[in-house]
This record gives sequence, C-alpha cells and structure tokens, in this order.
Amino acid sequence: MCGIFCLLSLSPFESPHDQRLHQNLSRRGPNSTQDLTITHPNPFYRCLFSAHVLHMRGALTPQPVRDAGGNVLLWNGEIFGGIAVAPEENDTRVMASQLSACDTPAELLSVVSRVRGPWAFVYYQQAQHCLWFGRDFFGRRSLLWQFDAAAEALTLTSVGGACSPTGADPWLEVPAAGVYRVDLKAGRVGGTGAVTLEVYPWATAGGGLPSSDKVPSNCVATMNQWGLGLPPPVSPLNTSVPEVGAEVLRSSSASRVAAGDLEEVLASRERTGEADHLNAVLSEAVRRRVQSLPCDIRDESSPPPPPPPNDHASVAVLFSGGIDSMILAALADRHVPAQQPIDLLNVAFMLQEPRTLKPQQQAAKKKSERRHTDRHKPTADSTNAPEVSSPFDVPDRLTGRAGLLELRALNPERRWNFVEVNVTQEELQRARRERVRHLVQPLDTVLDDSIGCAVWFAARGEGFVARGGERTPFASPAKVILTGIGADEQLAGYSRHRVRFQTSGHQGLVQELAMELGRISSRNLGRDDRVIADHGKEARFPYLDEDVVDYLNSLPVWRKADLSLPRGVGEKLLLRQGARALGLGSSALLPKRAMQFGSRIAKMENSHERASDRCNRLLSA
Ligand SMILES: *[C@@H]1O[C@H](CO)[C@@H](O)[C@H](O)[C@H]1NC(C)=O
Ligand SMILES: *[C@@H]1O[C@H](CO)[C@@H](O)[C@H](O)[C@H]1NC(C)=O
Ligand SMILES: *[C@@H]1O[C@H](CO)[C@@H](O)[C@H](O)[C@H]1NC(C)=O
Ligand SMILES: *[C@@H]1O[C@H](CO)[C@@H](O)[C@H](O)[C@H]1NC(C)=O
Ligand SMILES: *[C@@H]1O[C@H](CO)[C@@H](O)[C@H](O)[C@H]1NC(C)=O
Repeated sequence: MCGIFCLLSLSPFESPHDQRLHQNLSRRGPNSTQDLTITHPNPFYRCLFSAHVLHMRGALTPQPVRDAGGNVLLWNGEIFGGIAVAPEENDTRVMASQLSACDTPAELLSVVSRVRGPWAFVYYQQAQHCLWFGRDFFGRRSLLWQFDAAAEALTLTSVGGACSPTGADPWLEVPAAGVYRVDLKAGRVGGTGAVTLEVYPWATAGGGLPSSDKVPSNCVATMNQWGLGLPPPVSPLNTSVPEVGAEVLRSSSASRVAAGDLEEVLASRERTGEADHLNAVLSEAVRRRVQSLPCDIRDESSPPPPPPPNDHASVAVLFSGGIDSMILAALADRHVPAQQPIDLLNVAFMLQEPRTLKPQQQAAKKKSERRHTDRHKPTADSTNAPEVSSPFDVPDRLTGRAGLLELRALNPERRWNFVEVNVTQEELQRARRERVRHLVQPLDTVLDDSIGCAVWFAARGEGFVARGGERTPFASPAKVILTGIGADEQLAGYSRHRVRFQTSGHQGLVQELAMELGRISSRNLGRDDRVIADHGKEARFPYLDEDVVDYLNSLPVWRKADLSLPRGVGEKLLLRQGARALGLGSSALLPKRAMQFGSRIAKMENSHERASDRCNRLLSA
C-alpha cells in the first residue's frame, strides 16, 4: 500500500502545493518517502512525483521508480495474478520493467489490463511526453484529482483533505472508467485554456467517457483518437431471468416456507455444485491475499527479516460475525500458518440512546450533548439501556461473539483474537475531526460519515481481547485487512434488492445488481481504501477478486439469491449454502445488517437524518 501523488504544472510559475497533504500521504506509506521532479523546458511542463511506501513483503522498494529511459512509475497496487511476479521479485519493479518495454498506447494498455489485483498508478513516459494514470476496473485503490486553473496544475493523489490546496475546486475521485493520458506537448488547448484528458475506457457495455461532472473543471475528457479500450478483467453479468412459469411456482412455494424454520429451508436446498465452486474460487482469492505478506518472500540482497513473533497476526478480518466475514475468517484459517493468530476486528459504538426517556427529553438531552460533547466524556449510564448488559453490547458485538464460538469449533487449535473495539462519543468526535473527515472526502453523506468512522476504528484494531476471563488492551499488528465488501452487491444482500424484486421481479433485480457493481468504486471502495490505509494497513477485498466476480457474473441471478424465500435465507442464498459446506453453523442464517446499524454508530447521531443527506459533521472543523 502506498500514498502516491503527482503534481503536473503546465505553467513555469511555482504552483502552490500544500505540504499538509504529505503528512496524510505518509500515513499510508510510513516506510519510505521520496520526491522526484522532472522539468521539461519547451514546451514547458513540470511533474512532481511523490511516493510514500508501506513495506508489505520482500525487500523495500522505494518509489518513484525511474528507469534508464527516464520513465517514472508511481504504483499503488498488488499483482495477484495476470503478470508473473517471481518470489524474489517485487511487483513494483516488475510493473516498471513491463511498462518500460512499451512504446505505443496499445502496448501499455495490454500490460495494464493483464494485471489481476487492485491498483492505482501514475506513469510518465518520457520519450512520448505523456502522463498516464488510472484505477483498476472496480476502483479498489483510491485516486483523486483536482485542477487549479490559475496555476495550470493538475494534481493526482491517493488522499486529499477537507480543505483543498488553494481553496479552489474540490477534490473529485478519478472515475474508474479506464485509464487516462495527458499529452504533455499539447499544452493547454488554445482559446479555451482546457487540459485534455484522453480516455481509454474499459470495453464494457456501459463503458465510455466519465460524465463531465466527475471531471475537474477546465479539463475535458475525450475518447482517445485510436478508439482503443481495455478488455475488462471479468465477463459481463448474466442477465437471464427464469421463465415466467418458474417464477410463479417459486413464489408460491416460498409462501409455504415463509413461516417455517430457516434451518429447514436452507437444508431443503440441495447442496449444489455452484456452492462448492464458489467456495473454491473464494478460497483461492483469500489465499492470494493472505499469503502475499511481509516476510514470507526473501530478497537475496538483504538478510532474511526475522519472522514475526508467533503471537502476532499478519491478517485481520473486519468482523461482524455476519456470513460475509465468517466465510472470510473460515477461509483465512485454511491458508494462514497454523501457529499464527487471526485477528477479528469487531467495532461497537457506545449505546447511550436513552430509550426510557420521552421524545422531548431525548431532544433536550441531545441538544445538551451537542453542546458539551467536546468537553465532557459521556458516561455510560446503564439504567438508560436496561435491556443490555454493557453499553457496547451492540448487535454486531453479539453476533461477533457467536461467530467466534463457531470459528473456535471449526478450528480449536487456532488462536482467534476477538478484538473488541469500543468507541465512545468523545473518541468518535475526535477521530472524525482529526482524521476521518479528511479521508472520506470527496464523499460527504451521512452514510459515508457512519461507515467511514466505523471502518476507521475497526481497522485501527485497538481494543480489548478477553483472555481467561480478563480483558487486556490489545492493538492488532496485522497489516492486511480482509473486508467482505462486494458480497451484498453481487448476491443481492441488501433490503433494497428485496424491494426491487417485489416490485419488478427478476428483471428488476438483475438491473439493480448490474448498476450496483458498476458504482461500487465511487460509492465504497475509494473511501474504504483511504480510511483503512490511514493506519498504514492494506484493505484486501476477496469478494472482488477477478475470478470470484467472473464466476458470480456467469451465474444467473436465481442461483445466487432467491428473494421469494424469507430474510436470513433468500438473500445471498448461494453464499449460505457455501457457508454450510464450510462447516459453519447459525451464522449462515443471519439476515444482513448494515454496519452503521450493527455497530450502532447511526444511533449515536441524529436519527432523523437520511443516509443520503449531506453530513454536516464532516464539514465543521
Ligand atoms: C514500517 O513503518 C512502520 C510504522 O512506522 C513500522 O512499524 C515498521 O517497522 C516499518 N517496517 C519496516 C520494514 O521498516
Ligand atoms: C514491493 O515492494 C513494496 C515496497 O517495499 C512492497 O510494499 C511490496 O509488497 C513489494 N511487493 C512484492 C511482490 O514483494
Ligand atoms: C491532512 O490531514 C490533516 C489532519 O491530520 C488536516 O489538518 C489537513 O488539512 C489534511 N491535509 C489537507 C491538505 O487537507
Ligand atoms: C467493551 O465492550 C464489551 C461489551 O461488548 C464489554 O464487555 C467490555 O467490558 C468493554 N471493554 C471496555 C474496556 O470497556
Ligand atoms: C446464464 O445462465 C443461464 C442459466 O444457467 C445459462 O444457460 C447461460 O449460459 C448463462 N449465460 C452466460 C453468458 O453465462
């Protein structure tokens, strides 16, 4: 994981550039920081490249990498396949040398599109005088852009901040629509003063130019003159729907079981070859993500680093105890060395909504909390929440504990560190003010605030672990964090899928799923990458592995979910069947609970807000 930054100036006057960005970038890559400036006199352009590297595996490879031809690479990615990386090689170097061999756009695109794994990159081709950049097909790594018209400067960066450098235009996420190329010889387009961004889009049905509101003002995105595109890494979504007769049959059988036992419903579904196949591709996706770790690849030139102490986990899972995270934990167990613990990161926000108070009193209390929260630590008054034993016993904490028992039963030899991350209102406000509000930018809704904060605390991994009846403070040292994102989007896990199915049947559901996978980069992934990387840790997304998505895309929707079945079975049905095959128990039958509710962070805030509203808490300093 790295923090990458590039400032392209087309005017010889010094471009103002905010040093504070560097602090934020170096949190992503604490192990090496280097800058490199390239100035070309005529036509004038100057590129400042800055790279902040987190050491993950092998020998540390500082960036920017400059080759003999003068080309410069900033690489924030992981090659999990597609391009061979021998055990003693470093993927940044492999990528640099592959790109060095490219002359034409077609050659460069063929290298980039072969990579399997997450990436964002910036690449300067010296002989061609051009700058390439982009994000992978799903947008698993963050990249932001901004154009300063006065300074004629384009900035690309992994992370921005609540305040943009010149107070001018806000940051935007680079749309994961393809790769982009700036012809540095072209300068500003005469008259209009605009910078032209040539787009090489992913060649998919919905692919094409990003909409103009996603492109910085004074920049124009145009289709490249050769009409070139990138072959997508996954096959298109199977859009077939069952024949009408079958649909009717299904819904009538569903009403019969609706009141029945979920266990029975799941058991009555035959274990299918699909569930086993899904387990196999998911297992391989997890393997690739947990075995590419610090210290298991040696570089001859440096002495082998000492192996991590046995009680140190190198892999953690964002863990709610729900089916998505349970499957990741169960599969990680297969591939993480037996003597190493696995950290299960479980976040809870203090439940302090005084349910026993009348609405007016609540409102009054809220008001006074608002006024005082910065100075007074809110105290957990257990009488306010009589139905729970601890103010942190939120829904995800309870399912997390139940999940822990299942994992222990699955592998009693493994040390499972169930990390209870308890967050008070005061801590939440401090973290939001100092970190999270900079990281979620340019996203800004109530939902981004809730998820951003919850993920930030969970990924930090600081909490308590119970050992022999006692809770001891614990900080997870794992640099790799597996997250379950992508399962709900592909297997119809959200309640809106059920609504869509009820109103417009399989056809509507397929459309909804296609739309959601298409926007996952702009809705979730850039944000989650920025938030998790802030701890010098790397998010990895097994459900968005190319082979996993490719397989799920090939299946018709009715194999993945059956929304005529009750909640807790019907959504993500195929995953539940897979969970059973892995030996998991009742966690296979938990209905989806969104993180903001499961962790109760949404309860801490104004309950009248809608998730899609702009969040004022992210704005105020
Ligand atoms: C990388 O930086 C982190 C945080 O400063 C530090 O804990 C770690 O030891 C460093 N790793 C290497 C290989 O230098
Ligand atoms: C290459 O080096 C970078 C920086 O040291 C590191 O983060 C990355 O994991 C390495 N990759 C491989 C495949 O060794
Ligand atoms: C970087 O983060 C800090 C908080 O640590 C914030 O004050 C600063 O504004 C951020 N940088 C930018 C350019 O926004
Ligand atoms: C964290 O929350 C749990 C409840 O889920 C509670 O049992 C535990 O005591 C809390 N830990 C601390 C240190 O407050
Ligand atoms: C979509 O699913 C149907 C039903 O299983 C299958 O017959 C068809 O071949 C699939 N289409 C693709 C493109 O995979």
